[in-house]
Amino acid sequence: MLQLNLYLNIMSAAVEKNKLINGYKHSLYEAVSIPEEELLKTSNQFLEHLDKRRSVREFSDKEVSKEAIENIIKSASTAPSGAHKQPWTFCAISNSELKSKIREAAEVEELENYSGRMSESWLRDLAPLGTTMEKPFLEEAPWLIVIFKKVYEFDETGAKHNNYYVNESVGIACGMLITAIHNAGLVTLTHTPSPMNFLTKVLGRPANERPYLLMPVGYAKNPAYVPDIQRKELDKISQFYE
Ligand SMILES: Cc1cc2nc3c(=O)[nH]c(=O)nc-3n(C[C@H](O)[C@H](O)[C@H](O)COP(=O)(O)O)c2cc1C
Repeated sequence: MLQLNLYLNIMSAAVEKNKLINGYKHSLYEAVSIPEEELLKTSNQFLEHLDKRRSVREFSDKEVSKEAIENIIKSASTAPSGAHKQPWTFCAISNSELKSKIREAAEVEELENYSGRMSESWLRDLAPLGTTMEKPFLEEAPWLIVIFKKVYEFDETGAKHNNYYVNESVGIACGMLITAIHNAGLVTLTHTPSPMNFLTKVLGRPANERPYLLMPVGYAKNPAYVPDIQRKELDKISQFYE
């Protein structure tokens, strides 16, 4: 036992906490430690948990603390991004006047969408979801999170730089946002009242930010109903090469 402890001490002393790679500081990666025999169980538990997520369009007016929303946004911002530019801004809105303005402007666009801008086949595909041009959830949900993508930025010297893989990066961050919302026992809806330029104006965002998604966040109304849709089976969404 003494020998084993000695060996472990020597081994841990040998592994540096930090080191320079190409002249840049790197720190030791601390892996999330889950015993190998738990792999199937934990991955299955997470699958079951995520499989319960649904897009919900009926919200309770029950309050959600600002601190919880901050944690959810911070979780999303742990997402990987092209060259670690984190090209996103999450605008969290609980102000009722702003929410009403957003609903009003979104419904103007959605009226156009549902009465001619969307194709026949698009409207047919949407029919089972029961969506209309009316968006009461934009006022009912305690929070709206509007995600903006930062197409370019200015550095300390004022020089303009384009960001990389902006759509991919922001899409991944939004997926993690949705997961964090679900994990907190809250619900959301991925909403795209296209075109979304009105959000830049209502929220006074700078020219380098473009609206990406609009997500109401809160507790589900009790009861709330969701479309009876099925998810594709594994063999329809994957191909294994072993
Ligand atoms: C990019 C994107 C845009 C969406 N836009 C809308 C939308 O504008 N309005 C809406 O009611 N649902 C919208 N949805 C939600 C989808 O209808 C929903 O995710 C899909 O029907 C599957 O249901 P589920 O999320 O409950 O699994 C959108 C989803 C995605 C990913």
